[in-house]
Amino acid sequence: MQRVVLGKDIIWLDEVDSTNVHLAALAMQKVEEGTVVVAKFQTEGRGQRGNTWDSEVAKNLTFSILLRPTFLPVKKQFLVSKVVALAICDTLDCFVSGISIKWPNDIYVGNAKIAGILIENSFSSHIMDTSIVGIGLNVNQTDFADDIPNPTSLCLLTGKEYDLNALLEKLCHTLSNRYSQLISENFDTISKDYFGKLYRKDKYYTYMANGITFRAIIFGVRDSGELLLKTESGDIKSFFFKEISFVHNGH
Ligand code: BTN
Repeated sequence: MQRVVLGKDIIWLDEVDSTNVHLAALAMQKVEEGTVVVAKFQTEGRGQRGNTWDSEVAKNLTFSILLRPTFLPVKKQFLVSKVVALAICDTLDCFVSGISIKWPNDIYVGNAKIAGILIENSFSSHIMDTSIVGIGLNVNQTDFADDIPNPTSLCLLTGKEYDLNALLEKLCHTLSNRYSQLISENFDTISKDYFGKLYRKDKYYTYMANGITFRAIIFGVRDSGELLLKTESGDIKSFFFKEISFVHNGH
């Protein structure tokens, strides 16, 4: 297997608007793949769906890592998401049990969210160029604003405090392993492991699409990222991000 080492260059900042924005500018200046920008505080931390990502000063990991997956066709771009989510699970599995991936790429412990991922890709024709992989992992924060739906942190789960540097190093290591699988085109292993880690994959649950609720079981996730659901009547339906939501009180 081809092996890459990510996180050789780690840039620590006290404060930045968003590590994703900062790293995107560095990527244009041709910094090396694997470069990490990590901030104690982000003034404009960005989440998915145009949301903000709020994190108390110096309590959590908020960082971005630069990938240059120029070997990957655009239509397989979701594999980057899969390896990043798996790498976070690989690290967190060492500390707590019950880690899963809520499709597409939220990291959950039980029914609470411990980490979020925001990946911003650029392309060169039909091939990937850069991936700015932004990760927010709740580590030592124990109080969260009421409007954050269902947050948790490593400290809330274990009662211990964690060294952010050491945790970042571990994440860079598991990211290097998973990204090496991607470079080596072990797509089947990646997809099998990702499916194995999916939140709510073993039973029928309630979902909502186009204002209609229905019960279905997760059938798979395409390399393009579409979620495949099998309804109770046996139909397979596919959904892109934003087209479907998990209904949380539905069983
Ligand atoms: C989500 O909404 O779940 C994604 C959150 C991603 C947050 C991280 S924190 C580091 C990086 N910089 C940002 O501005 N966002 C990502």
